[in-house]
Amino acid sequence: MTRACAILLSGGGSNMVKLVESMAAPGHPARPVLVMSNDPEAGGLERARALGVATGAVDHRPFGKDRPAFEAELTARLEAAGAELICLAGFMRVLTEGFVRHWEGRMLNIHPSLLPKYRGLHTHARALEAGDAEAGCTVHEVTPVLDDGPILGQARVPIRPGDTPEALAARVLEQEHRLYPACLRRFASGQREPLYLS
Ligand code: GRF
Repeated sequence: MTRACAILLSGGGSNMVKLVESMAAPGHPARPVLVMSNDPEAGGLERARALGVATGAVDHRPFGKDRPAFEAELTARLEAAGAELICLAGFMRVLTEGFVRHWEGRMLNIHPSLLPKYRGLHTHARALEAGDAEAGCTVHEVTPVLDDGPILGQARVPIRPGDTPEALAARVLEQEHRLYPACLRRFASGQREPLYLS
């Protein structure tokens, strides 16, 4: 039996598209059951509908500072869809410990840096400012510490002379699109060994 996978996003959803497409492969251990956003206008929702995946939105704004209430609604919607695995794919809300603990061991994230370097935002600018020779992306299990948790895979990207944050982000994103589907497939079939792509 395949595992029901939900994807949470806040933006354009290019990683979501790659994840959904990858799950169509014969024998894949997971299937997409829901794409959810905190932003009802997120472009990724339209793209998910075009792929034939059920979508939903829980607008975080009416909840104000009450993150637990927002997350309780998210969890209710995820559980109603039967979600067994969650992939965060550009979901731009900080999650409380309660939500993370509820889904711990079942929730993945992709982060655009070679963790543990550059947790948080502006990862590409920070790698360039530091004079790093390479950048990349990481898929990891989500634990209560932001951008932490067991690493499931990484892909590396060389930094070129004259790179801008935008140019670097675009090259890292291409690698995200390879890495995340590969890591989801492994995770859904019970593999926990990290995958290192070059
Ligand atoms: C990606 O760079 C991802 O690493 C970060 O948010 C971005 C989402 O892009 N967490 P997209 O919406 O999947 O195109």
